[in-house]
Amino acid sequence: MLILGIESSCDETGVALYDSQRGLLAHALHSQIDMHVAYGGVVPELASRDHIQRVLPLTTEVLTQASVTLNDVDAIACTTGPGLAGALLVGTACAHAIGFALNKPVIPVHHLEGHLLSPLLSANPPAFPFIALLVSGGHTQLMRVDDVGQYTLLGETLDDAAGEAFDKTAKVLGLSYPGGPAVSQLAEQGDPERFKFGRPMLHSGDLDFSFAGLKTAVLTQAKKLQATHPLTEQEKADIARAFVESAVDVLSKKCLTALKDNHMNRLVVAGGVGANSQLRERLNELAQKHKFHVHYPELHLCTDNGAMIALAGCLSATRDKSLLNQHDSFTVKPR
Ligand code: KG4
Ligand code: ZN
Repeated sequence: MLILGIESSCDETGVALYDSQRGLLAHALHSQIDMHVAYGGVVPELASRDHIQRVLPLTTEVLTQASVTLNDVDAIACTTGPGLAGALLVGTACAHAIGFALNKPVIPVHHLEGHLLSPLLSANPPAFPFIALLVSGGHTQLMRVDDVGQYTLLGETLDDAAGEAFDKTAKVLGLSYPGGPAVSQLAEQGDPERFKFGRPMLHSGDLDFSFAGLKTAVLTQAKKLQATHPLTEQEKADIARAFVESAVDVLSKKCLTALKDNHMNRLVVAGGVGANSQLRERLNELAQKHKFHVHYPELHLCTDNGAMIALAGCLSATRDKSLLNQHDSFTVKPR
């Protein structure tokens, strides 16, 4: 079964071809970061307009890469949410147009399911069941994953997502969008002892998170220093370090609790913040100490991409063949 996957939920247009026998055949991505950087964040209207420009050329690109035509495709998988409404509309309209024109089924994919399953594209894929930590710009969740489509939410953020906290910290420190990689890099130069921020929800007795207070702690510390002078580079690095230490501490310890509570020894980390080197380092240390396996998507598949959507569409259709009977694209219901 050959699936064309289309992702357009935020600021990346991703298109890919995934084959149930041969794996990922091709993928192409256009990131809009350079376009949004001047505004310090994603401008939804610009995002939608750019997806319109990119989605068909990227589709042609993957078909060429894999030496196939649209007629060879068995179904089109597209992200139906969550995400920016206008941006999602571009990908779904494109998928449905192809489906309608060629009489192919369209498989709706939940964006987070794409992230969740993305480590299955790596050289060392995890077996089911596993615990998944989903850490993106919009979500922070711990899930129990028993199989494709069998997901139990164990805990989630009560306010900001982890990626959002990284992005807001970056803004306070005057770093450019997207903030996650910039904060992470700067934190490497920071003194871990200079500032100490709290560990929100660490002892809450559940698997929920909260990052809004941490963002406020960053802002308060920055303002305190700025009352007497502009922040020095070292001070910015020290604040970034304190922020990363706190975020990584809470995320990693809650992962360990989720594994223990569910008697599991496999952890999957997915979503943009899963690319964070400090988080990976800490989880790798914990994995050695507590004897569990930790799986990450390949680095370039941590952030949004079409490959994870094509894969999720393929696995969903393999499990539920009725998804392949939805030939009238106007009757496809978002899941
Ligand atoms: O999964 P993703 O591409 O998009 C969403 O679905 O939200 O995640 C984007 C988020 C942004 O907040 C970005 O700052 C963060 O992931 N991010 C990182 C790193 N790379 C991306 N955060 C920390 N460290 C990184 N290396
Ligand atoms: Zn995402």
